[in-house]
Amino acid sequence: MITVKDLKDLHGKVVYVRVDFNVPQKDGVIRDNKRIRAALPTIEELCDKGARVLLMSHLGKIKWKEPDPQKIEAMKKANNMAPVAKALQELVPNRKVSFTPFTRGEGLKEAVASLKDGEILLAQNTRYEKGEEKNDSELAHDWASLADLYVMDAFGSAHRAHASTVGVPTILKEEGKTVALGYLMIKEVENLSRCVEPKDDDRPYVAILGGFKVSDKIKVIDTLLKKCDRILIGGAMAYTFKKALGEEVGSSPVEEEQLEYARRCYQEANGRLLLPLDSVCTDSFEEKEGRKIAVYEGGIPEGLEGVDIGPKTRALYQEEIKKAKLVFWNGPMGVFEQKDFQAGTLAICEAVREIKGKAFTVCGGGDSASAVKQFGYSDDFSHVSTGGGASLEMIENDGHLPGVDVLR
Ligand code: 3PG
Repeated sequence: MITVKDLKDLHGKVVYVRVDFNVPQKDGVIRDNKRIRAALPTIEELCDKGARVLLMSHLGKIKWKEPDPQKIEAMKKANNMAPVAKALQELVPNRKVSFTPFTRGEGLKEAVASLKDGEILLAQNTRYEKGEEKNDSELAHDWASLADLYVMDAFGSAHRAHASTVGVPTILKEEGKTVALGYLMIKEVENLSRCVEPKDDDRPYVAILGGFKVSDKIKVIDTLLKKCDRILIGGAMAYTFKKALGEEVGSSPVEEEQLEYARRCYQEANGRLLLPLDSVCTDSFEEKEGRKIAVYEGGIPEGLEGVDIGPKTRALYQEEIKKAKLVFWNGPMGVFEQKDFQAGTLAICEAVREIKGKAFTVCGGGDSASAVKQFGYSDDFSHVSTGGGASLEMIENDGHLPGVDVLR
């Protein structure tokens, strides 16, 4: 595959770069600019080579099925890309960054035409266009007509076959134009590929899976069971497994329709799938004085809900992680946003810190990456992915992602 490094002189050329600037923000205040920073090496290199850089990204969700046009407008307003352009300008003070509120038509064409060599233009949220998520051909042709080359650097969106991630490069390729991978993509694909195809000296390979629903993780559990020596389960989804094995889980969330799958999966894992031995439980999510918080081993009484793995489980999981040569982690162990229920997720971070330099450790983005950052462990991992859904899908689909496959 061609990479951004292979591209030569780009003076006078418009390079369409799909970035993932889907950053956590509210009312224009960006909580974490990691995804913007992660795309800078590609953007800087293109500018240095004289390119006119057109950046396209989605931000948040626009639910086009919503019948009330006012609600659509409100969703658009909440996901306006303008503050992201400001944040980008602050990160590259020596470059000119402009923003266009247009996603299509003459307005966008004019903004692109006014770009000079080495300048950057960020367009409005791609999801302002109804056709984006449907990979609408007319929309993709419109966008492709603006570009001389295409660079994919949106790892977090590479699992989406949308107009901006698959439609545009497909058309440009057909037209004989260059399509390439950016630096962020190269780094992500290289690091996650190791989890897809572990080498002999990557054993034991330990996966840690948390999060809310078993149904979201079925494919990844099935795939990891073929590759891993151990799978450590935490988060709310552990209670579906525990109930499937006949344990009392109190008021913990359970996906009844997944009980059969969980039972079968546990049996087929033949001892490689570990479940919590004990759980931190509460009678209330509200951080109020007097709420009950207790640790239960085995069954959880009615009225209480499991919200974190307990001390015995933390010790067991830490022991397993410390033996590992390769670790893939996706999903927190508990409700880490609350101090009382952080210990499980923190224990995973601590164990990874202890094997720093001795094992290859990957945090697969999403909530677990937020936890790693919040607790200050980012530098202890070999790789913290910028894409939650994308890293999971890459593992599920044996290294394949639509946004990458289209560039092959
Ligand atoms: C993400 O945050 O996971 C990516 O930006 C993809 O966003 P999406 O789930 O809204 O497609």
